[in-house]
Amino acid sequence: MKSAIRKYWPQYRWSNVFAMINNMQRHPRRNTESFRDRLVVITGATAGIGYHTARKYAAMGAHIIMVNRNPEKSDQVRRQMDEEFGAMTECVIADLALLADIQRVGQYILSLEEPVGVLIHNAGVHFASRTETPEGLEANFVIHYLCPLIITKMLMPKYRRDRTGRIILVSSEAYRFAVWGLDLEDLQWKKRRYSGVKAYGAGKLAQILSMHVLAKELAPYNVTINAMHPGVVRTESGKDNGILYQWYKKNIIDKYSGSPESSAEALYYLGASPEVTHTSDQFFHLTTEEELAPPARDLAAAEALWNTTRELLREKGVAL
Ligand SMILES: NC(=O)c1ccc[n+]([C@@H]2O[C@H](COP(=O)([O-])OP(=O)(O)OC[C@H]3O[C@@H](n4cnc5c(N)ncnc54)[C@H](OP(=O)(O)O)[C@@H]3O)[C@@H](O)[C@H]2O)c1
Repeated sequence: MKSAIRKYWPQYRWSNVFAMINNMQRHPRRNTESFRDRLVVITGATAGIGYHTARKYAAMGAHIIMVNRNPEKSDQVRRQMDEEFGAMTECVIADLALLADIQRVGQYILSLEEPVGVLIHNAGVHFASRTETPEGLEANFVIHYLCPLIITKMLMPKYRRDRTGRIILVSSEAYRFAVWGLDLEDLQWKKRRYSGVKAYGAGKLAQILSMHVLAKELAPYNVTINAMHPGVVRTESGKDNGILYQWYKKNIIDKYSGSPESSAEALYYLGASPEVTHTSDQFFHLTTEEELAPPARDLAAAEALWNTTRELLREKGVAL
């Protein structure tokens, strides 16, 4: 921790924080070009930002593959989009906290003939208390970080062949809560007191760091990868947390939150606009490019995280 403070403290600038505050006032840019007959794959489309984003792409003519964990909710969304937009939709049911399911999703997308125009890693959670998966991993870490990383890595042969595509990580300004970076010795929150906000921030920071590594690998294939903060919007986020959290969310967070439709507009712009065709390895606050805070632009930390992760996954039987 001390060495992280020494490393990052001199790099922190108030101007970086003020830029983020300014960006909070901006509306997302819009794109009106059609997505007709092109494929978008999105995780977590049964609620909130994912749901509205899938609808936006459906309204613009896209074929949609939704990766959802709840079959009933999933079916309902699919039927709705079919009735309203006549959209070609498909659902893959998977629990993205489980490595086996994540790999099954990766295999399935890999097997598709059709190029993936946009892949949106959206599924997310907010756990107030530490939640461990049956595979012994901290769930927030798996869903926000390992899942997008594994699926994207598995798709490399497809991207090499298709030579097109955009990947969007639905991130969060909350990555800033990991003020002094990640603790590589305790990525699973076993040795420290768990904090929901800090663990969420760490998961999102890990996700952003992985973007730097993936962007380099994807660049020769003409595939971009960017992370975006979708705004602070009213969704089902944290619905499984306790009564105290529910009260806080309903009476405080939701009161000051916007509509997830604006997040969907931003995700459509980033996936479809020609203005960002060649933009990669960037962080967007909705649709405004924003400089990352020091721990999130630390390329040495990104490499170190990648090496630790590869080792961890090898122990779990996942070879990337
Ligand atoms: N809301 C905000 O203000 C905000 C701010 C910054 C970033 N974000 C990010 O935005 C993304 C979407 O969140 P949201 O606010 O829209 O939350 P939400 O309304 O709770 O939606 C989350 C979606 O992810 C799915 N999901 C959760 N765990 C999953 C799992 N293990 N396997 C498969 N799917 C799973 C949910 O499925 P179920 O319907 O089955 O639960 C749901 O479809 C997240 O990455 C979040 O971190 C949100």
